Amino acid sequence: MRPVQRVSYEPLPLWMRAKVAWTKLRTGHEGHTFYTLTWHVPVNEILDGGLRREMLDFARGMYHYELPPGDAVILTGMLDGPGAGGALHLFGWLRAALAAISGEESSAIAAPTGQSGDEDGSFGLHADMWIPALLFNVFNHVVAAQGASLLLPMDEMWGIAAAAGVPADVRAEMAEARVEAGECDYFEQFNGLLYGDHPWTDRVRRALREAAIEVPLGPGQGYFVNDREWLHGRTELAPDALPRELKEDRLYRLAYNNARLDAAAGKRRVEWEWTGRHAAGCKS
Ligand SMILES: [Fe+2]
Repeated sequence: MRPVQRVSYEPLPLWMRAKVAWTKLRTGHEGHTFYTLTWHVPVNEILDGGLRREMLDFARGMYHYELPPGDAVILTGMLDGPGAGGALHLFGWLRAALAAISGEESSAIAAPTGQSGDEDGSFGLHADMWIPALLFNVFNHVVAAQGASLLLPMDEMWGIAAAAGVPADVRAEMAEARVEAGECDYFEQFNGLLYGDHPWTDRVRRALREAAIEVPLGPGQGYFVNDREWLHGRTELAPDALPRELKEDRLYRLAYNNARLDAAAGKRRVEWEWTGRHAAGCKS
């Protein structure tokens, strides 16, 4: 099978594609990514027709799956089948299959892991706020006693943020961003209101961290949550704890909308178009 591709999950305007191509030609890499990338393996890359049908049934199963009440499950044994080597292909393929099933490129992304996080390698409690809402994260390379996962219900966040000094109008803006994320990537709009340069930033970061559930997850373990209902983060991770070449395979993630969320997103898209707010304006 060919290597997993990195593609933008949004149609890019010509000038942006030209800019990326020019940067690649000059420096050999894409440069700063100002659009969201996803791992991608075309559906037809599985050449065996029988296997492809079975895999598509599996993807359809995921598309119709609903999380149990509470909107979160812990995953185990997720690398038992594909192994770490095959996981990236599997996630890239599932991304392509789920986008094909839904008919929307933006409804499924398997985002490569970036260098995001704080100086000490921790990552404050946040929501990814990509367009798709379900978040399927599986860990591969983990470091003992470092970088444990943190999870916190969104419901609890509001009270903690209020007590830490996040003003009511800012919380209202966050609540709006939480809904509008279904149309655009709203990571900054939501998390920036907590952790930007605000008087409450340090207090709220500490308070959310203290309230969060700490879940040390091993290779093949992970979580499957609704990103709008749960915040996630990680504890400190020394910058040199993982060699650079392993960082990209630290975890595999897939964000997608299931059939119900996809229908809701479709309805919202129509409303946005009626009111003159179109998703194409998100990045421009
Ligand atoms: Fe995240």
